Amino acid sequence: MKIIDLRSDTVTRPSIGMRKAMYEAEVGDDVFGDDPTVQTLEAQVAELFGKEASLFVPSGTMGNQISLKVLSNPGEELLLDENSHIFNYEVGAPAALSGLLAHPLNGERGHLTARQIEAHIRGSDLHLPLTRVVALENTHNRAGGTVASLEEFKRVKQLAVTRQLKLHLDGARLWNASAATGIPLADWAAPFDTVMSCLSKGLGCPIGSMVVGGKEIIAKARKVRKLFGGGMRQVGILAAAGLYALEHNFSRLVEDHANARQLAAGLANLRGVRVDLDSVQTNIVVFDLQSSGKPIPEVVVRLKEDGVWVVPFGPTRIRAVCHLDVSREDVDIALGVFQRHFEPVRVPAASFSGTPEPEKPPPYAARRVRADLPELINSFADGRLENEYYLSLRTGQIRLLNDQSGEKEREEIYLSENDYVLLPKKRSRDGYQDLLDFIEVLGDGSLREKLAVAVQGQGAFRRFKDVLLAYPEDRRKWFTFSNERDENRIREWLEENQIALELP
Ligand SMILES: Cc1ncc(COP(=O)(O)O)c(C=O)c1O
Repeated sequence: MKIIDLRSDTVTRPSIGMRKAMYEAEVGDDVFGDDPTVQTLEAQVAELFGKEASLFVPSGTMGNQISLKVLSNPGEELLLDENSHIFNYEVGAPAALSGLLAHPLNGERGHLTARQIEAHIRGSDLHLPLTRVVALENTHNRAGGTVASLEEFKRVKQLAVTRQLKLHLDGARLWNASAATGIPLADWAAPFDTVMSCLSKGLGCPIGSMVVGGKEIIAKARKVRKLFGGGMRQVGILAAAGLYALEHNFSRLVEDHANARQLAAGLANLRGVRVDLDSVQTNIVVFDLQSSGKPIPEVVVRLKEDGVWVVPFGPTRIRAVCHLDVSREDVDIALGVFQRHFEPVRVPAASFSGTPEPEKPPPYAARRVRADLPELINSFADGRLENEYYLSLRTGQIRLLNDQSGEKEREEIYLSENDYVLLPKKRSRDGYQDLLDFIEVLGDGSLREKLAVAVQGQGAFRRFKDVLLAYPEDRRKWFTFSNERDENRIREWLEENQIALELP
């Protein structure tokens, strides 16, 4: 039986090419500063992240903790998201190793805003700890691989400058954030004093993470690495894997993201499985089984018996991660296994009719269908569907909301990548052509008023801006918004950038 290991992107095994690079690595004693391969890796990574220096460390946890120690003094306060890796999964290390008082805040999909941080900076009263460090995470693991907002990072930076805060980024999967958005690593890293990034996750290395920062900070970090027992000797053997990964495995991360979307779309089509498709922005899929009534530990065991390995992610949730060792075919096989345990809600695309399935209504008043684009357009055209349409620019998902009955009856249409690529990876005008064409079709004639664009979340907001700018001016009025908050954000942005858009 083929095993499809979706537990984490840390489970990858070094490829033949990577092993060969490791075998051939030139090495020396790195504690004496003699290892040329480590030096090459550190120089390359520093440049990629736009910082003066970098340091090779054994693990992400050690990289985070070295950074925090360098940036703080015992008794000071660390602000971070309550679901962050540093707060939850690093064994209380900020307290144990740096004497930091961790103060968890409630981020949106794992991401804190500058305003939120500002509200928690302590005053100068004698009794209070000094708020010193803010640690952010991008992508956010526990939130399901969600990507942060670069604009918000910049606001946090401004705040840090005025309020003398130090900033650390847990960028274990910053590679994925960069691949998903096209924003260079250096731009993501710019606001931060230190950034930790893992080679041992999506990049497929067996061991190793990097800390990047200014020269002085990295010199201190080198000393703290020794203090924590992380000085390594002929470690060029591992650095060679890192160099190989930068060359071969960084640019392919978009495949993992496409696979994750495919997996999520398939899971969303199963009875009793809930997936927040808007949160599937990179390689992680978190899904909820509460409405299935099935206990998570049992589901995990049953799936494992059928060759699909996943991890429990809280009392009702499971996490599945796509990575280098999971192909598109593996995702299809895994979905087949999931279907043995959770039956599909709706017929496949070919027989899509736009009418509800009569038998076996789902437990809540919603049904999900998959359809291919031409089918969908026909359904619009001959008036079979007369509802409101929501395009999620983040997932390529179209939601069809039918609240007219007042009974919150909901119909959702998910277009998977196989059906139609609404969200191409390239950020050029051409890259968005499919989406623009589609809007053209929907925006034509009587459907014009019904097209709404959901720009929830920063990633979707950014994409919306690109799509909007690529769209002919006289048609921009076809965009409307699914909620007031989205609309206000877009209006503000339009004003700031002096872009004319006639909103209804
Ligand atoms: C967001 C995040 N930060 C840090 C780490 C720690 O990395 P390591 O397992 O190499 O210590 C992980 C590991 O999964 C992670 O997901």
